[in-house]
Amino acid sequence: MSFPKGFLWGGDISANQCEGGWDEGGKSPNMTDYHTGGNVNEPRMATYIMPDGTYGKTPAMIENCNLPEGAKLAINPDEFYPNHKATDFYHHYKEDIAMFAELGFKAFNMTLSWARIFPKGINPEGVEFYHNVFKECLKYGIEPLVHLYKYDMPAFYIEELGGWKNRVLIDEFVEFGKASIDEFQEVTYWSTFNEINAAQFSILDSSNQEEVQRQYQVLHNQLVASAKVVKYLHDNYPNKKIGCMQAGIFTHALTCDPEDELANQKEMQTNFWYAGDVFVRGYYPSYAKHLWKELNITLDITEEDTKSLKEGTVDFFEFSYYFSNCVTTHLDGEEATGNLNFMGKKNPYLKESDWGWAIDPKGLKFFMHEIYDRYQIPLMNCENGLGAFDILEEDGRVHDQYRIDYMREHVKAMSEGIDEGVNLMGYTWWGCIDLVSASTGEIRKRYGFIYVDVDDFGNGTYKRYKKDSFEYCKKVYTSNGEDLD
Ligand code: BG6
Repeated sequence: MSFPKGFLWGGDISANQCEGGWDEGGKSPNMTDYHTGGNVNEPRMATYIMPDGTYGKTPAMIENCNLPEGAKLAINPDEFYPNHKATDFYHHYKEDIAMFAELGFKAFNMTLSWARIFPKGINPEGVEFYHNVFKECLKYGIEPLVHLYKYDMPAFYIEELGGWKNRVLIDEFVEFGKASIDEFQEVTYWSTFNEINAAQFSILDSSNQEEVQRQYQVLHNQLVASAKVVKYLHDNYPNKKIGCMQAGIFTHALTCDPEDELANQKEMQTNFWYAGDVFVRGYYPSYAKHLWKELNITLDITEEDTKSLKEGTVDFFEFSYYFSNCVTTHLDGEEATGNLNFMGKKNPYLKESDWGWAIDPKGLKFFMHEIYDRYQIPLMNCENGLGAFDILEEDGRVHDQYRIDYMREHVKAMSEGIDEGVNLMGYTWWGCIDLVSASTGEIRKRYGFIYVDVDDFGNGTYKRYKKDSFEYCKKVYTSNGEDLD
């Protein structure tokens, strides 16, 4: 049997993409509450208002939010904000968790909304909401795996402090982390940051020295904040476990030209290993120092930071994995793939999703080996899934064979990786219930085993329907990954 006993099969959502209830229960606005919808051709934007009352927009990348001087984040009545209600987990969590239990979940990977818990000081109603969610999970034997931070923070941190580029955020986050860990004693598995390497791939203009400098500092500040929370948990709760997560920006060299191999190695170091090497090993690798020189940036790293990084190394390594990219020195821009700014060149051997993301289960196995060889600590695949256009048919079902195929091939790849020696502790499918896409703001980019009847503009009943993949996932999970047919 490939998958060990106690393997954490489950699903994953994030507060801002699924919860809704944006102004309910004492919550203050999050940054993402100012994000408009979008699509593949029109990026999501964050809206603001200028002192003269005019509205404006800026690219909605939370790790890179640059408001003009004097601007305040603002809701523009002419825009639609999909995260405000999202798919309404806030009001449906009991029904949703019951369906997760039916799917055979052993783990539920989720985030806390910082602004629901800590709008400014503790919000008892927000705290109670999460206690209720955990209670509901534990009732069915589902372990919550809780991320403290996922592309989301109280909006006033952006307006008043300029976001993560300001070191003050380190202390603010550590306070939030400690308070959450102390409060939610029922949670055993914690994680500090979702896709912490996002700070680098949020660089919109790599020729802009100031922006590059800022983003590497953002990442440094987050790494320190993460390490401090990790240390706090280790010092105070030795029976609990804590990880940090990396976005699986996995790349192949497009050709066997050694120049391509080198370019790919550098890409992997810059976009992938850079952060994980720090949060697993506790110090910056030598290639990072070379990179800073090459980029001509100087980071503000104090002695205390260096100590914190060393003392706050994680218990397990979490990653997301959706697609792979190719790196080459041979082609120009027209061969690019996918809808994200950092995506690479098309891989002629792979099919792509409706959104141009290359489907590469073998890459997952390769990638798991690479990470495990490097770090030798348990791995957690906490985001993997297929965003697709689903159609709710007259029979009340979605016939999503494409999602079943995607899942089968990725579970097979994990099982082979485990057979070959990788220590993988769990797998949580991204967007187990439909939610708002982070990159495009669409709901029609659906990932779920559970369909939610709502469109990109909030029209619909919000009723839940089982897709064909629901039965498939149930079979896989309840057979501990044995029955993949
Ligand atoms: C992951 C993010 O990288 O990708 C999720 O952590 C996101 O928040 C997921 O939803 C899928 O991306 P998208 O853009 O299809 O929502």
